[in-house]
Amino acid sequence: MIQNTHGRRNGLSNPKKWTREEEDILRAYLEQEKESFTPGRAWGQLQAEGFSRTAEAIRKKVQQFRKNEDLAKTSDPKLIAKLISLVNKQPREIEEVCNLLDVSPKKARNLISVAVERGYTIRIAENGFIHPTGLQPRTSKTSISLPKVSSTLRWAVFSDLHFGSRFCLEEEVADFATYVHKEEGINLILNAGDSLDGQRVYRGHEFELKYHGFAQQSDRLLMHLPEFPDLHYAFIDGNHDASFWKLSGLEPGAETVNRAVARGRTDLTYLGPDQAQVVLGEGDQGVIVEIAHPDKAGAYAKSYHIQKYVEALQSGSEPQILFTGHEHDYLQIEVAGIFCAKCCTFQSQTPYMARKSLRPALGGLIIEIKVSDDYQIREWSCRRISYNGPKLKRHLALPVRKIVL
Ligand SMILES: [Fe+2]
Ligand SMILES: [Fe+2]
Repeated sequence: MIQNTHGRRNGLSNPKKWTREEEDILRAYLEQEKESFTPGRAWGQLQAEGFSRTAEAIRKKVQQFRKNEDLAKTSDPKLIAKLISLVNKQPREIEEVCNLLDVSPKKARNLISVAVERGYTIRIAENGFIHPTGLQPRTSKTSISLPKVSSTLRWAVFSDLHFGSRFCLEEEVADFATYVHKEEGINLILNAGDSLDGQRVYRGHEFELKYHGFAQQSDRLLMHLPEFPDLHYAFIDGNHDASFWKLSGLEPGAETVNRAVARGRTDLTYLGPDQAQVVLGEGDQGVIVEIAHPDKAGAYAKSYHIQKYVEALQSGSEPQILFTGHEHDYLQIEVAGIFCAKCCTFQSQTPYMARKSLRPALGGLIIEIKVSDDYQIREWSCRRISYNGPKLKRHLALPVRKIVL
């Protein structure tokens, strides 16, 4: 006797809901027949298996399968990775990409849109070729709302968190963000790059990593950046973040924000690679702040790279305040009328830094300025919150090896 299940002919002849078994039979038949598939012949196949569906119902079901397959294909990370590796080798015409990936032009375009949404740096040029675009510096300023309280503006800055590194002070990052928000009433933290430790930045770098790959490192970042309703983070990418772009074409800052949004977080803003200007104030008015991650380190004078950076600024585009990351150092200095600070780090000394005789300044900064009505700076104060000290013993203590002669 035929089982009395959905879709079988003995009674429940045409239920609305397709069973898994029916769908599997239809899928297998579709796969087997490919181009010669017709709903009529599939009807016969289902009848032979003891199911009854009209040809129209089968046609609709197949349409649904194909639509789902398209959606799955255009969001398939493996297919996106294949697309990126193809176009990173050389620009390719869209038809060539369709052939190589075995997708229709429509799917290829969808795939490109999904890749761009996910932070990959490619585009379709007017001549129909798909190009890698490189990391595009942002050419506009970003306005961030930061109301004055009695002509005073306050915010915090940190840099070079290096999530993924064995030497990243994850708990201290969380502690700093919580402290400046809860105890100091700060609602904005600017970040001057190297949020992630990246991959293959220098020879032997892999041995200094605790978490490998973009997904794991950005997960650690999002896990340790505390989320408060009134606290916002705005950040650029540094050279360590950009290592993921060099390896895969993924713009890590853009994708980190995507991953935050997927978790329901809207407290992160990516400002671009290497450097960005923000206007802190209200409406179009505010103080102009530049955040930069210049790829220079180690100089006889601590102020050397900042001075050179200011010297190289395009005339007319100078900020009022400059924060630089990358050097894992602390300094505040006024250069050519610009208030400048190096933003410290939350990565304790790595073997690489020890080899280069570089000592990290651990911590972050709290900035407080008094401004005139038209946002000219009248007073500047930069306080360093330090994490050098006894708390770090857990990272730095080495076991004692005894040799008895
Ligand atoms: Fe760094
Ligand atoms: Fe760096």
